[in-house]
Amino acid sequence: MVRAAMETLRTLDDIDVDGKTVLVRADLNVPMEDLQMTDGLRIERLAPTLRELLARGARVVVLSHFGRPKGAFRAEFSLRRVREVLGTALDRPAIPFCDDCVGPAANEAVAELEAGEIILMENLRFHAGEEANDQAFARALADLGDLYINEAFSCSHRAHASIEGITHFLPSAAGRGMEAELSALHKALDTPQRPVAAIVGGSKVSTKLGALTNLVTKVQYLAIGGGMANTFLSARGVAIGKSLCETDLAETARQVEAAAAKAGCEIVLPVDAVVAATLAPGVATETVDIASVPEDQMILDVGPASVAALNEILGQCRTVVWNGPLGAFETAPFDRGTVAVAQAVANLTREDGTLSVAGGGDTMAALAQAGVDTDFSYVSAAGGAFLEWLEGKDLPGVVALERAAKR
Ligand code: 3PG
Repeated sequence: MVRAAMETLRTLDDIDVDGKTVLVRADLNVPMEDLQMTDGLRIERLAPTLRELLARGARVVVLSHFGRPKGAFRAEFSLRRVREVLGTALDRPAIPFCDDCVGPAANEAVAELEAGEIILMENLRFHAGEEANDQAFARALADLGDLYINEAFSCSHRAHASIEGITHFLPSAAGRGMEAELSALHKALDTPQRPVAAIVGGSKVSTKLGALTNLVTKVQYLAIGGGMANTFLSARGVAIGKSLCETDLAETARQVEAAAAKAGCEIVLPVDAVVAATLAPGVATETVDIASVPEDQMILDVGPASVAALNEILGQCRTVVWNGPLGAFETAPFDRGTVAVAQAVANLTREDGTLSVAGGGDTMAALAQAGVDTDFSYVSAAGGAFLEWLEGKDLPGVVALERAAKR
């Protein structure tokens, strides 16, 4: 389980890789725009494991998916395009690439590797067997090597062949990045220093209901921001003008509040808001008390009083977990609340040793915008997997590593 401590998994410290062919499941599903990678964090975090394996004399075979090609070859989803960036990260300009990840071409290419050499294989999801966790496909992947390393926490919520199935056929261990991620997450929610605050933002309650329901049982403060907060405010009877709101979830919001009260978790909602007639750059804005949102305006950010109140609470906490922005942060000036709280958490981490763990694509972008993405204790590059962890779910990839460690 993801909830388990790292002691229950094998790591690179527990395996002898010298002269072995090591299959590394990476997450090279990196963000791209116009064929250019726009964020290199996943590759930066993968590089140390690859470098270590190469230095220890392994033959390294990198497996990954890219996008969602649905079981058939599609040129726009070829991993060929990340080959160069991966090479640069490893100071190896010409990393060999194989046009398939299983079958005769793959077997031949891997057999040619020398100790200390690396090869990148084509997109796993060009084969339907990957997402189906097909046993024969998992076996064909396993046949490529002697050992399996999962270095893709961000894919570990998928029970796919390269994440789950393969561990039935090979000795398996967590890579360094996986190890760091699991340790950070474990410290933040399973064995945290209290009080713990969770900040959950984003537009919809419906996408984060599982996380909210789990978090109220784990944390002392649950701060809700973004469009999600409107649903909670509206359910409390606050008039929210023409703000985004899932009115059909009012009862659900009340149930989350009741569960929080029962568990001794304080739900923290905005006490003021920045409102505007529409979401657009340069639009006229006003800061209003939460009880005075004009009928023709929408809430687009938390106001300064909400930021101050939240920062006061965070100052008393030893652990902060964060997923989702507090306002429409992509459009200035509605990023101000998120930026101010992000900077406060970064300061608390630096000055008071508060453990701060954030995750998810929007959250990473918001922290980068606030200039504090390297100041948190840990920022996860995982999206769906981070959310499932917040939901308290067991992640199939982590469960598989645990099971494999017992063999
Ligand atoms: C991600 O980018 O979150 C992972 O690579 C998982 O991708 P998926 O949602 O397509 O499985």
